[in-house]
Amino acid sequence: MSFTEEFGTRVTVVDHPMVQHKLAILRDEGTSSKQFRELVRELALFEGYEATRDLPLEDVRVKTPITEATCKMVQGKKLAIVPILRAGLGMVEGMLELMPAAKVGHLGMYRDETTHEPHEYYAKMPEDIASREVLVVDPMLATGGSAIAALHYLRKCGVKNLKLAVIVAAPEGIRAVLAADPEVQVFTCAIDQGMNEACYIVPGLGDAGDRIFGTK
Ligand code: PRP
Ligand code: URA
Repeated sequence: MSFTEEFGTRVTVVDHPMVQHKLAILRDEGTSSKQFRELVRELALFEGYEATRDLPLEDVRVKTPITEATCKMVQGKKLAIVPILRAGLGMVEGMLELMPAAKVGHLGMYRDETTHEPHEYYAKMPEDIASREVLVVDPMLATGGSAIAALHYLRKCGVKNLKLAVIVAAPEGIRAVLAADPEVQVFTCAIDQGMNEACYIVPGLGDAGDRIFGTK
């Protein structure tokens, strides 16, 4: 069964040729931290573009230099972006370029290197998070543990409309997320083959946080 058949409309693979091109450079172990950060920002913008495709529009009257016209603008929808620290931070700038009025909540999560279980160490959300449409961002979806913990936290905060945007996903992680949260929509630039014994995505791109921040 193909991933499209398996995941249906709950998973969108953002596979525009420019996205695939940028992702190939991102995966390359020779790519510098500077370029890696720039690519993550750009890919986030492309993903944000797809993830906001269903935003409601309203009619506005605009006076062009020629005449008056009825045009469309995005309704005053309340949005929030929630990066999973650290690596998710790399996607915030690109998302904010697209949605400058969005608020940003931060969720600190690290994966235990032995058990691969997520540990939450920080959370700071906008006060009105429950009434916002929330886009959780993290470049990597491996076992799904971190994303599931983040989605669970946000559901407990009362968030109803939740989306998850990652750059590379393992099929196992997607399956786990869809099973844990029956309503979340997932956006990814690629669905890779799987994971190795250390739960790194294969072929993946290595440790996204370390590559963004130059910590290895
Ligand atoms: C990475 C990544 C995700 C998580 C994915 O973060 O950014 O948050 O692992 O793995 P999972 O799907 O198996 O949970 P990491 O814990 O390495 O922290 P970092 O962002 O600080 O590098
Ligand atoms: N976290 C990463 O940064 N990379 C992986 O491949 C898996 C988890």
